[in-house]
Amino acid sequence: MKLIITKHNLGLWAASYIQTRWQNAQKKPFVLGLPTGGTVVDMYAALCALVRHGKMSFQDIVTFNMDEYAGLPPTHEQSYHYYMQHHLFGQVDILPQNVHILNGMAADLHRECQQYENAMAQAGGVDLFLGGVGRNGHLAFNEPGSPFDSRTRVMELTPSTRRANSRFFDGDIQKVPTHALTVGIGTVLAAKELLFLASGESKAEAVARLAQGEITPQWPITALKTHPRATLLVDPAATVAFDPGLQQRLRAQQEQHPQADCILEF
Ligand code: GLP
Repeated sequence: MKLIITKHNLGLWAASYIQTRWQNAQKKPFVLGLPTGGTVVDMYAALCALVRHGKMSFQDIVTFNMDEYAGLPPTHEQSYHYYMQHHLFGQVDILPQNVHILNGMAADLHRECQQYENAMAQAGGVDLFLGGVGRNGHLAFNEPGSPFDSRTRVMELTPSTRRANSRFFDGDIQKVPTHALTVGIGTVLAAKELLFLASGESKAEAVARLAQGEITPQWPITALKTHPRATLLVDPAATVAFDPGLQQRLRAQQEQHPQADCILEF
């Protein structure tokens, strides 16, 4: 896998990457796996701008979102249905039947998860899965300990994740749902390509675990290392927990090519 450290805006970087992949795709519709969260807001804004300027279209794109809170209706401002409508789907030319998001209000959540996996298989699998990273290294809502072969299922959220996400719920952890539906790590790893984003010091420990730690389900982010075509794109603030040797190596690379992204390959 590649770890890319860029000084450029992560959202613009990622949007242009997605556009290139979509443009060059051999097979259409192009199937995207999509995340939510603060980190990817800029990416969605940049994708909307590309569509507005006629440089991209979602008419031949099928999407599968990673996760959704259990028990929040799509009208709830913190549901991921609402987030996606607001940040992307309401502004681009995607066909409604091509949008897939787990239904956190389904009467039978386990059946909902199974049907989601079936729909993904029917679409021919995900071509490019995009994602963010939790402070504790979670991917989607796969909390630490999630097996790397896990598939779409219901997860209980850890106190750490509920605390981190309480900033979207009036700072009140009691308002954050206790459970979520999420694609599994195995579901993510089954995609043909992965592009994950992490920014800021709050993600530094998770990013350091990926760069310098062992591959372990205790740090779900390390699953990226097992994928043949995975990229983690980070800003410099997310690298502050690297050990001094690696920081030194990055500084040396940057001095030689100040404008270029630093690329580490594992
Ligand atoms: C939530 C989402 C994750 C996301 C994470 C990070 O927990 N379920 O998919 O990666 O938040 O969010 P942020 O980008 O806001 O830090």
